[in-house]
Amino acid sequence: MNDTASRGQWSSRFGFILAAAGSAIGLGNIWRFPYTAGQNGGGAFVLVYLFFVAAIGIPVLLAELSVGRATRRNPVGAYRTLAPRSRWPWLGAVGVACGFGILSFYSVVAGWTLGYGYYAVSGRFADGIDSAASGAIFNSLVASPLWPALLCAVFLLLTALVVRGGVSSGIERASKILMPVFFVLLLLLAIRSLTLEGAGDGLRFFFHVDFSALVADPGVIGSALGQALFSLSLGMGAMITYGSYLPKDENVPVSAASVAFSDTAIAIVAGLMIFPALAHAGVDPQAGPGLVFVAMPTIFGAMPAGTIFGIVFYVLLAIAALTSTISLLEVIVSYFVDERGWTREKAVWIISAICFVIAVPSALSLGASSFFSNLPAGGFLGLMDLIFGKYGLTIGAFGICVFVGWFWGVPKALAEIESSGHRLPAAPLWSFLVRWVCPVAVLLIFGLVVTGRANW
Ligand code: PHE
Repeated sequence: MNDTASRGQWSSRFGFILAAAGSAIGLGNIWRFPYTAGQNGGGAFVLVYLFFVAAIGIPVLLAELSVGRATRRNPVGAYRTLAPRSRWPWLGAVGVACGFGILSFYSVVAGWTLGYGYYAVSGRFADGIDSAASGAIFNSLVASPLWPALLCAVFLLLTALVVRGGVSSGIERASKILMPVFFVLLLLLAIRSLTLEGAGDGLRFFFHVDFSALVADPGVIGSALGQALFSLSLGMGAMITYGSYLPKDENVPVSAASVAFSDTAIAIVAGLMIFPALAHAGVDPQAGPGLVFVAMPTIFGAMPAGTIFGIVFYVLLAIAALTSTISLLEVIVSYFVDERGWTREKAVWIISAICFVIAVPSALSLGASSFFSNLPAGGFLGLMDLIFGKYGLTIGAFGICVFVGWFWGVPKALAEIESSGHRLPAAPLWSFLVRWVCPVAVLLIFGLVVTGRANW
């Protein structure tokens, strides 16, 4: 077992917030949130999403951080410390397995962003392309027997190089550079988009609240909650792991609120960037998972300074993805370092190599034809997403609520959260939410996923 000194910790609260926000802010915000909102009716979905971030996301985030900081361990070790000789560590093991599973498909999509960055730089979208041409570019990328795997390998390599540096000099340092760059690029793009002709129509779609879609289909509500968990990196112990590197004197409530707020704000700003651009180019916001890869390139050719904005857009996506893949890899690495006594260096390289092997089928499974209508539902990539990104995260989120709410107990978790002397506002409300509301809500969406009604 490794002690605290050799595990490392964040050097400042700001460093932790940037790293944890970096984990949360990712493809989930810029790739998945806009198309999920688009497919689920726009404004009403967004409202329900905001409600779930506050009522379920923040309470579960606090639960994960408290378990991590109390034990200073990876997810398996954390449950083992608080519940020795029980089956709880298995829940941590599910989290580590989700790390492998999610990283393996996430790094494939992240690899596409690199490929698109290259297309943008080489001027492929410069003269304007229609959606058929854009679709053909996408298909030829994902159906290539070589490129998706190669780009995924490059992305995993970048991730490994950061995680290898350790907690404060690797992850925290990279986040301190990448996240500010990310914010600036995003603002730039949002302003560009909002000043395009026709932007108002996009905003109207994004903010138009029509609850009839929700009433007609409870799956929309499930998708909003599932998306909130995924976007906040909850349910697999990423926040247990990042919480385990939090110094004892840090203010946990404020840190948790900052992470949840920035993740949500970025999702909204991503909407402000994407929907006006779609409206400007007359692209259907319900295009589905191909939105940022197929619809956006048709826009860059048609807008002033589009080549530059195209490059910026894919760099932005790649940065967002990188700070998330870092956290996915870190969960697995921390397990092997804490529990198996591996060195960080050895863990990083072996695990990245294994992830690459698991990623290859996802990288190569998307044939040319059926892609647009059913990307995460389709292919091996969609299967990995379903098993680990949907089943895995909901099981993990349900488990942490039961663990903190009923087994370890709210009083101990609260004592940990408040141990630095910073009180948790509305603590009784938090207790009620983790014990009752969160587990029941998560169980309900689990039912909606299993019966195929919720899809995010
Ligand atoms: N939150 C990340 C995103 O929105 C994805 C992620 C999920 C990262 C779970 C870590 C753990 O892209």
